[in-house]
Amino acid sequence: MTSEQRRPFVGGNWKMNGDRAQGTELARAVASEVGQLTDAVDVAVFPAFPYLSGVGGALADSGVMLGSQDVYHQPDGAFTGEVSVAMLADCGARAVLAGHSERRHVIGEDDRTVNKKAAATVAGGMISVLCVGESLGQREAGETDRVNERQTRLGLGGISPEDLQRVVIAYEPVWAIGTGKTATPEDAQDAHAKIRAVVADLYGEGPASAIRIIYGGSMKPANAEALMAMPDIDGGLIGGASLEAADFGTIVRAGAAVAR
Ligand code: 13P
Repeated sequence: MTSEQRRPFVGGNWKMNGDRAQGTELARAVASEVGQLTDAVDVAVFPAFPYLSGVGGALADSGVMLGSQDVYHQPDGAFTGEVSVAMLADCGARAVLAGHSERRHVIGEDDRTVNKKAAATVAGGMISVLCVGESLGQREAGETDRVNERQTRLGLGGISPEDLQRVVIAYEPVWAIGTGKTATPEDAQDAHAKIRAVVADLYGEGPASAIRIIYGGSMKPANAEALMAMPDIDGGLIGGASLEAADFGTIVRAGAAVAR
């Protein structure tokens, strides 16, 4: 399968930003910007937990998917403060992030925790966006490939080939997130190709060529098309630029352009 055959995935990670009214307004604006492009591109937005239902309502007549920034792997029980896969599905969510760098490096989640979240998400029928990526120190120490391989292998641990069809991998170099520094298309392509090779080693060539690997880290309207034009870059996970509907729409259009 080539990049033209993999359906692009473009996600807007809103992180801990905005309030209820702004979230609903942004969702409406995104739905109108994106319009029929969801025929060619999977588009999702990831608001904070309290706003999931409101944002979901605003997206109801659009093809834009609702996503969650986090989940807990247990189905139910005494886990104060946590939210299950079923609860998210009940709110209309269809995709969940796992292992975002801010959860790994600020909140302290390890690969085992990330794996449980990804596995529970796909077992529950939802898309898991498994985030991997090296820090600046790791890049400078020449550890980029080793870190991406470890996070990919451990993140996918125990996930069946069937459930893998609901995994999207997001390569997000930590040093590029929120910094305005973007990996060059060539460096990002190199990382994506190596991550795809890890998936091939785990699952074989067919699943590896079908899985979508998207880039995140200061993706903007100005650089989105050059990144997504690379053969192993199948879309983007957007932070800052996803908070402006027009910018996010431009990035989705770039995804649609390279899909053709
Ligand atoms: P920025 O686009 O703000 O760099 O954030 C990327 C990101 O973390 C998406 O998950």
